[in-house]
Amino acid sequence: MSQLVRVGDVAEVPPGTGKAFPLGSLDVAVFNIGGELHALENACPHQGGPIAEGWLEGPIVTCPWHAWCFDVRSGKMTLGDFARIARFAVKVQDGGIYVDTEPMPEAI
Ligand code: FES
Repeated sequence: MSQLVRVGDVAEVPPGTGKAFPLGSLDVAVFNIGGELHALENACPHQGGPIAEGWLEGPIVTCPWHAWCFDVRSGKMTLGDFARIARFAVKVQDGGIYVDTEPMPEAI
């Protein structure tokens, strides 16, 4: 069942950064883009690279393993619409980061 769970504190993810947090059986990568948080599964669709450790420039993160690039706001690959990272609803409350346990339902 889908529910929001606290994964960490907003202070752990300053603007312009990303950080991985455990969420059940997987990790989520939470990115702070100008004060707005976005959560993606912390697994690149290419070979599972830890996207939270990628290079973040604006809303675009570059996978640290083989440099595929994704828009963290949509989870979509920037070079074409053939790969996407699962997104999770995220909200901030009382300084905490809350992420939905189920990914957003969306088609490629
Ligand atoms: S695992 Fe991300 S680009 Fe290869």
